[in-house]
Amino acid sequence: MDNRPIGFLDSGVGGLTVVRELMRQLPYEEIIYIGDSARAPYGPRPAQQIRTYTWQLVDFLLTKNVKMIVIACNTATAVVWEEIKEKLDIPVLGVILPGASAAIKSTEAGRIGVIGTPMTVKSDIYRHKIQALSPEMDVTSLACPKFAPLVESNQLNSSLTKKVVYETLQSLTGQVDTLILGCTHYPLLKPIIQNVMGPQVKLIDSGAECVRDISVLLNYFEINRSRDKQELRHRFYTTASAKSFADIAKVWLNRQVDVEHVTL
Ligand code: DGL
Repeated sequence: MDNRPIGFLDSGVGGLTVVRELMRQLPYEEIIYIGDSARAPYGPRPAQQIRTYTWQLVDFLLTKNVKMIVIACNTATAVVWEEIKEKLDIPVLGVILPGASAAIKSTEAGRIGVIGTPMTVKSDIYRHKIQALSPEMDVTSLACPKFAPLVESNQLNSSLTKKVVYETLQSLTGQVDTLILGCTHYPLLKPIIQNVMGPQVKLIDSGAECVRDISVLLNYFEINRSRDKQELRHRFYTTASAKSFADIAKVWLNRQVDVEHVTL
């Protein structure tokens, strides 16, 4: 047993899609979350900058005495997960491997699409991970640089968002039977993405998939939180406006959460 919280980080609010799934699958676990909305999006930034920012978020979480870190951001996972995992002596999970395995399981035609930030797509990490497991898979990747800023500004269902999603995904429609939402911000746009891709396309939420791995690791290291009656105190931190973060969190987590502004 280990009653310390699990730490989550993202460039902004996207990691909430992982937290939502954690609250559903592992409701006894306590959460510390840091979102770097002041510097989001990370996707168009150079790798070195993403690396520096991500380490700052990791160091912040370490000051909160977390028992595990979840890099709830594909972009940060693509750039720096291996390095962080090597350096820390607590388990560190990324979101890419779980999404890649789930897509292989889901596809029938062997045609997988990946949408993500410019950095995630440039790294080609999903193709590498998928083809390392299953070399015959066909993987088509597409960068969607406009999606994360729309989510950060809480435009989850605006007509502008619908137009942007429609226009961006045109080249993928009819090409794939499984689409990896390779950015944790994108599940917030899932209904629109599903509508554009068509009901036959299976959408893989890489963050949600990663919660299954969190559960496996908690069991493996025997660090689950005890199921006593002690109240959970989830804590959320943002480098930008606490109110904007809380507004999105309220919709997405269906509850009011305490959000504190921090400067890193
Ligand atoms: N949520 C992040 C991801 O999964 C990144 C969005 C961004 O900051 O560009 O890649």
